[in-house]
Amino acid sequence: MKSAIVTGSSRGIGAAVLKRLAQDGFGVVVNYVSGPDQADAVAAEVRAGGGQAITVKADVSQEADVKRLFEETKRAFKTVDVVVHNAGIMPLFPMAKADTETFDKVIAVNLRSAFLIFSQAAQHVAESGRIIGFSSSVVARAFPGYGAYIASKAGTEGLVHVLANELAGRQITVNAVAPGPVNTELFTKGKSQEQIEEAKKSNPLGRLGEPEDIARVVSFLAGPDGAWVNSQVIRVNGGFVF
Ligand SMILES: NC(=O)c1ccc[n+]([C@@H]2O[C@H](COP(=O)([O-])OP(=O)(O)OC[C@H]3O[C@@H](n4cnc5c(N)ncnc54)[C@H](OP(=O)(O)O)[C@@H]3O)[C@@H](O)[C@H]2O)c1
Repeated sequence: MKSAIVTGSSRGIGAAVLKRLAQDGFGVVVNYVSGPDQADAVAAEVRAGGGQAITVKADVSQEADVKRLFEETKRAFKTVDVVVHNAGIMPLFPMAKADTETFDKVIAVNLRSAFLIFSQAAQHVAESGRIIGFSSSVVARAFPGYGAYIASKAGTEGLVHVLANELAGRQITVNAVAPGPVNTELFTKGKSQEQIEEAKKSNPLGRLGEPEDIARVVSFLAGPDGAWVNSQVIRVNGGFVF
């Protein structure tokens, strides 16, 4: 059975991606850092649908944890075929606050993690495998407060393009998806209902994205139909004007 690791798949977009890849026939690895109950519930749902799932607690910003995530995947499924690096955080703060602690945390969880996950993926993903990172459509904008987050996602996009070149000859594609606003805790936390309604109105399709909207695109990139898409950042945002 082919396997798929989805980082940060205990909830939000990652959980939807993981469930979709399980439906597509992959044995899946539910990764989380703080919510074992949610991770167990996602794995149980996959198993109830006839799929295979394991859960692995691993902080994606920590090298030893990331190595173990790949080791446990190989132990369970023999090969690593698809790696989706979805885990991320989005604390917002103006640069004048000089909050170096939060800046370092965002860079560690979003960008250092991408380097660590991509390094392990480069060593372990099987021929014809897929590596998919997560950026954000907000990279194209310069909203106040998004400095650390945009820096981390722009850096991730850079790593995606370089890794696609470094893996030449192995038939492995490396891409990123860059969602616009999606209805998860990461986007809605700390926002007023008015701000959320504003985000819906400013989208040509009149709503926020749902995790399943993003999961469908990841499924395409991870499956046979995505074979000729390589080194791309796919903006999945319903046409939100960026
Ligand atoms: N939602 C949006 O509007 C939006 C838009 C553009 C891009 N994105 C990107 O999409 C991805 C998923 O976002 P989301 O909205 O689904 O977020 P979310 O609902 O907040 O879920 C985040 C997931 O990441 C995990 N996680 C956080 N820190 C981790 C760490 N250090 N190690 C391992 N796992 C960790 C969480 O696990 P625990 O529960 O265990 O903490 C959780 O499963 C992120 O990369 C985000 O930047 C989201």
